[in-house]
Amino acid sequence: MLERVLPSRRATTHSDDAADDEDDIVGAGGDVSKTKKQHIFFYATNKASYYLTRLGSGHRWPCIIGLFLFLVLVSSIIFNSRGFVCISSYDPVSRSRFFGFDDLESDFGYLGVPWCRSRHGKTVDWTTKDLLKGLEEFVPIYETRPIKNNMFGMGFDHSFGLWFIAQWMKPDLMIESGDFKGHSTWVLRQAMPNTPIISLTPRHPEKYLKKGPAYVDGNCIYFAGKDFVDFGSVDWEKVMKQHGITDLSRVLIFFDDHQNELKRIEQALKAGFRHLVFEDNYDTGTGDHYSLRQICDQSYIRGGGHSCFEDSDEARIRSRRKQFWEKAVDIKELCGSGEAWWGVRGYMRDNFNHTNKPISYAEHFQNSQFVESILDVYWELPPVAGPSLTHQTRYDPARVTSPIVEDGQYGLFQRLGLASPRAFCI
Ligand SMILES: C[S@@+](CC[C@H](N)C(=O)[O-])C[C@H]1O[C@@H](n2cnc3c(N)ncnc32)[C@H](O)[C@@H]1O
Repeated sequence: MLERVLPSRRATTHSDDAADDEDDIVGAGGDVSKTKKQHIFFYATNKASYYLTRLGSGHRWPCIIGLFLFLVLVSSIIFNSRGFVCISSYDPVSRSRFFGFDDLESDFGYLGVPWCRSRHGKTVDWTTKDLLKGLEEFVPIYETRPIKNNMFGMGFDHSFGLWFIAQWMKPDLMIESGDFKGHSTWVLRQAMPNTPIISLTPRHPEKYLKKGPAYVDGNCIYFAGKDFVDFGSVDWEKVMKQHGITDLSRVLIFFDDHQNELKRIEQALKAGFRHLVFEDNYDTGTGDHYSLRQICDQSYIRGGGHSCFEDSDEARIRSRRKQFWEKAVDIKELCGSGEAWWGVRGYMRDNFNHTNKPISYAEHFQNSQFVESILDVYWELPPVAGPSLTHQTRYDPARVTSPIVEDGQYGLFQRLGLASPRAFCI
């Protein structure tokens, strides 16, 4: 499936149903620039996700009490929409025209990929080989998804990331905040066929069934509609008791609710949860909520920090890249007056950009120190495939790690079933 964000707030191709869906997601007057898309081509995700989890020995869960792993899973930081470009055949000539430059491989991470530091420098225990194996398994599963058009929801890359983490972790319980029509619930169910799910979402996914495809799970407790409770207000001790969960490190939490991620981390830690996955790891200068990537985009962190000199190389590179990559931002969007680094533009964005709290740079810096102090593992999912394969122009490769299937690996791309428009296009 390939969807692409439109630059304007209201697309002419937008249907009334899509407008209703959008209102449900962001509320009236929300900034929907991140979620607006138009279907065009085929493949390459545009959202970011993080996973906060713990790894264990013996089996795949943690054995060291008190350590947290933040795994940022899906690459997409930058990927705040779930866009794909559909391509029906491999055409190296048109691809090179499309990109206009040859050195795509070396382009990845060129402008830094902020990577939150963990306390003990741990990393995940899966490899690129595991991810490739996972892709092979996941592509045919994804083809059977009930919601083919998931505009405003997750696309292929992040669905894969969520599925991969869930089946790797094998949790006893999965909690999800932000369901929309239920696609992510379906993804969790594919990963763990018999594991209970708790879903928190203002509008019950069954409401969408009146309009078209949606997914309602038979082994899921919904805190939705009149029963909706925000994640931060749930009495988790009571709910865990009701579900017979005594070891909170065996619970996996997935957030796709566009709330300040620092707030969600604090709420989750207070309740005792250890493994968190965040969708939408927005890059600095973009997005509708404060993200881990933004928090960790500090000059002392690998891949973090910025130059705000107008005459700098970074300024020139950014402004050039902005002309081609839709989510690229220039230094005017990153920096404040007096060439002071502004980063998140002085706000902790929250709740789809509806409730923002001003913060000073000192607070922003402290937030990164706090995250570092509680983090065991952080991992961000790379893009599934490079842009010369997917033809996406949404995220700027200069701000992400190398893709799982790299540019030039068309044979692998095809072998994995990623080149088939049937798999992803709507
Ligand atoms: C981007 S959509 C989720 C997409 C979904 N995960 C998918 O894969 O299709 C965000 C959802 O969060 C819901 N939402 C808004 N505020 C929320 C809150 N405080 N807690 C949980 N969900 C919330 C919206 O109604 C919307 O359904």
